[in-house]
Amino acid sequence: MEVARTIEDARLAVRRARQAGRSVHLVPTMGALHEGHMSLIRAARAPGRFVAVSIFVNPTQFGPGEDLEKYPRPVEADLALCRSAGVDLVFMPSPEQMYPEGFATSVHVAGLTDGLCGPHRPGHFDGVATVVTKLFNIIQPDTAYFGQKDAQQAAVIRRMTEDLNLPIEIVVCPTVRERDGLALSSRNVYLSPGARRQAVCLSEALRLGERMIRAGQTDSAKVIEAMRTHITSAGPCSIDYVEIVDPRTLRPVSRLAGPCMLAVAVRIEGTRLIDNVVVE
Ligand code: PAJ
Repeated sequence: MEVARTIEDARLAVRRARQAGRSVHLVPTMGALHEGHMSLIRAARAPGRFVAVSIFVNPTQFGPGEDLEKYPRPVEADLALCRSAGVDLVFMPSPEQMYPEGFATSVHVAGLTDGLCGPHRPGHFDGVATVVTKLFNIIQPDTAYFGQKDAQQAAVIRRMTEDLNLPIEIVVCPTVRERDGLALSSRNVYLSPGARRQAVCLSEALRLGERMIRAGQTDSAKVIEAMRTHITSAGPCSIDYVEIVDPRTLRPVSRLAGPCMLAVAVRIEGTRLIDNVVVE
């Protein structure tokens, strides 16, 4: 496994792989790798494929007062996990590599970023779209892997890839969960034991909502109300949103007919957790 800390070295490794006739596949991450990330790496892995993982805690997607400084960076453990998963290249640039002095460009995906996490994290999706565009241009992969856990992010990246005619296939993989249902996240390490127990209320609320819809409830306000009650009765927290949206447009739906996505964002003891489920 090669570790590239500069854009030049990453490009060189990819060029060699291409010359050897291998296809190139990218899993973008911010590190602190867990089973969710590993599932993306496994999905990317196949004979003849060159798998690149980027590990970059992207400063431009963190707002003021967010957790950029304290975001976990267990570099050695991450490299060991990549090595054991058969990753070919880890691209670990410094912030200065990615954003040299004078950097002035940003990618904005309109519409899809108006709702859900958008208003709660101003500028976040611009930071994500910009860094992913850069990673795509540096690695130039055939396919790139993202998790359904961050459904809005995946939708933004699909839209951007299509709109900018990037010749890259976007693959979205299912959310990996703990035994009790909590979606894996690098931020789960922030949770105290009590907050960790309480955090299961997100996935429970999603399952409750899903059950109501499957049982024939078509009024999304009623489903949202029940989900909110479940979350607030689990303990002290602050709800950013509980919403039911169209899985493609991410616009709220009030009458439930076709497929929909239930999405929640909740702060427990200051840690912001998100989760979602699509009901077909
Ligand atoms: P990060 O939070 O490290 O996540 C990297 C990828 O892993 C994302 O596509 C995310 O959706 C996926 N992922 C995280 N938890 C998952 C889970 N429990 N199950 C399945 N997939 C999961 O998302 C980012 O980094 C950044 O925004 C990035 C795209 C790298 C741009 O900086």
